[in-house]
Amino acid sequence: MAEDNQRLPLAPFGQYGRSDQESPYHREERPSKWFALVLTAFVSVCAFLLIFAIIFLKASYPRIRIRSITVTNLHYSATAPSPSLNASFTAQLAIRNNNFGHFKYDESTAVVLYGGVRTGEGVVGRGRVAARSTKKVNLAMEVRSERMFADERVAADGNLTAAMSGNLSRDLGSGVVEMIGFGVVAGKVYLLDVIRTRKVIQFNCSISLDVRTVRVQKLVCR
Ligand SMILES: *[C@@H]1O[C@H](CO)[C@@H](O)[C@H](O)[C@H]1NC(C)=O
Ligand SMILES: *[C@@H]1O[C@H](CO)[C@@H](O)[C@H](O)[C@H]1NC(C)=O
Ligand SMILES: *[C@@H]1O[C@H](CO)[C@@H](O)[C@H](O)[C@H]1NC(C)=O
Ligand SMILES: *[C@@H]1O[C@H](CO)[C@@H](O)[C@H](O)[C@H]1NC(C)=O
Repeated sequence: MAEDNQRLPLAPFGQYGRSDQESPYHREERPSKWFALVLTAFVSVCAFLLIFAIIFLKASYPRIRIRSITVTNLHYSATAPSPSLNASFTAQLAIRNNNFGHFKYDESTAVVLYGGVRTGEGVVGRGRVAARSTKKVNLAMEVRSERMFADERVAADGNLTAAMSGNLSRDLGSGVVEMIGFGVVAGKVYLLDVIRTRKVIQFNCSISLDVRTVRVQKLVCR
C-alpha cells in the first residue's frame, strides 16, 4: 500500500514531468535557433546602419580656395609719398564638396588685403555644390589702394599712413606686391535631403602680384 501509494503519485509525476520536459524542450529548441538567427540578422543590420551612418551621414567640411586670378585694368604709380595701385581681379574659386549630399551656401563678401588692410572686395554669390563634386565660382574684385588709406584705422594714424605708403611705394618699385585674398563662406551640408549641418569654410590665399607683367606670379592658399 505504502509502495503503491508512493508509486502512484510518482508515475503520473514521472509521466507528467517527462511529457512536460520533452515536448516543450523540442518546441523550445527551434524558437531558440530562430531567435539566434533573428538576433544575428538584427545585429548585422545595426552594424550596417552604423557603418552607413558613419560614411554617409557625417558631414565633412567642404574646401574652398582660389584656383586662379586674372588681372586686368592695372594702373599704378610707385611715386612717393602717394603711391597708387588700381586693378581688377577676376578670381576663380573652387569649392570642393566631398559629402554624399549637396552643400548650399549664402552670399558673402571676399576681400583683398594689403598690409592687413582692406584694399579690394567682391561678392561671392549664393550657390549650391552637388554631392561629391567641385564647383568653380567666379569672383570679381576691384583693388583700389586709396581704399586702404581711407580705412579708419589708417587715416587716423599718420605714422601708419606713412608706413603703408612707404611700403606700397617700395613694393610697386620692386615690381611685386604681396596681398591676401580672404573670404568666409557659410552654408549647410544636406545629407539624405533631411539632415542639415551648418559648415563655415574660409579661404586665405597669399597673392604675389607682378605689376610689370600684370600677372599673379604666385598664389598659395591655406
Ligand atoms: C586709381 O583710381 C583712382 C580713382 O578710383 C584715381 O584717382 C587714381 O588716379 C588711379 N590711380 C592710377 C595709378 O591710375
Ligand atoms: C611694411 O613692410 C615691412 C617689411 O615688409 C613690415 O614689417 C611692416 O609691418 C610693414 N608696415 C605696414 C604698416 O604694413
Ligand atoms: C608717430 O611716431 C612718432 C615718433 O616716430 C611718435 O612720437 C608719435 O607719437 C607717433 N604718432 C602716433 C599717432 O603713433
Ligand atoms: C591668413 O594667413 C596668414 C598667413 O598664414 C595669417 O597670418 C593670417 O592670420 C590668416 N588670416 C586669417 C583671418 O586666418
